[in-house]
Amino acid sequence: MKNAIEEKILACREEEWAIVTGDGFRLHVDPNEGNGISFAESVAVTLGEKPRWLHCRWLYDEIGSDFYQRITEQPEYYLTRVEDRILADNAAELRRVVGDATIVELGSGSSTKTRRILEAWLDAGDACYVPIDISLSALEQACGDLAAAYPDLVVEGLAAEYDRGLRLIGGISPLLLLFLGSTIGNFNDDEMDEFLRAVQDALNPGDRFLLGLDLIKEAEVLNAAYNDAAGWTERFMINLLARMNRELGTCIPLDSVTYDGYYNEERERVEMYLRFAADVDVRVAKDGPPLVIRAGESVMVEISRKFRVDAMVAKLADFGFALERVFTDPDEFFAVLLLTRER
Ligand code: AVJ
Repeated sequence: MKNAIEEKILACREEEWAIVTGDGFRLHVDPNEGNGISFAESVAVTLGEKPRWLHCRWLYDEIGSDFYQRITEQPEYYLTRVEDRILADNAAELRRVVGDATIVELGSGSSTKTRRILEAWLDAGDACYVPIDISLSALEQACGDLAAAYPDLVVEGLAAEYDRGLRLIGGISPLLLLFLGSTIGNFNDDEMDEFLRAVQDALNPGDRFLLGLDLIKEAEVLNAAYNDAAGWTERFMINLLARMNRELGTCIPLDSVTYDGYYNEERERVEMYLRFAADVDVRVAKDGPPLVIRAGESVMVEISRKFRVDAMVAKLADFGFALERVFTDPDEFFAVLLLTRER
């Protein structure tokens, strides 16, 4: 049986997306999946550049996603906990302000923090949830859990990259688009602009955008959050090299690499690097060109920008978003902005 949301998704497609039907949910799988730049190509290109870097999207294989989950449970990593508190405290209010709207989420992952919002919607009436995530396995797991927990919730997921998924939601309105966890902090300036443009194009006037932002704060707090004592952040970062060894056949001796992550106050961002203590040949594929990283060199793996609400609101205004509400915690560690796509 098709629901209204599925009809709208189907109407926006330009090609056939596979449909996976689960128990109480349905997923639309991008046929283009895998046509983007591959792990091997990406690694070969960015490791060859100076300065060397790796794209943070590759951190999230099954093991990496598991390690990230552990990070969110560490006492030093306040982001997830504080954002969840903010959502728990304000979900009912959010539903009152936004009214009945389809909830779409970018990078939904395990959808745990979304539950606060889904529950507020279900308390007030019908609810329909459209999670968008590149990981089909994560989507299946999350949607199955949600369908079991909330039998009345309509779940219509999209297994796709952000930009591909965003192109399918144009027919859905009113809509509330969630982008939580301060994931937007991973983008550099160009990626941020490209992303905000895509969101602007995907939403219709009057639609809402709920954006989680980690705020600028004392360096000690930030340095602790990205250097947890139990070592999960380090394991998360090193796993990217372990993944290369597993999937690309590189033979990087992991004990010659250390993690170094710190808050760069001037650039208002946490920078995460892998530092090599020995010369390592990381050639991708047996017949690929040799690629030697020398002892003392470092590879940037991730940035996590920290934000000022005022500056971010000004930036969002350039992309047609008007601020409706700022939800924050008593320490002002984290902010959740509710924005409206203007006419
Ligand atoms: C998932 C992007 C929000 O930047 O805080 C956590 C990822 N990296 N520790 C963040 C991360 C190292 C995280 N985000």
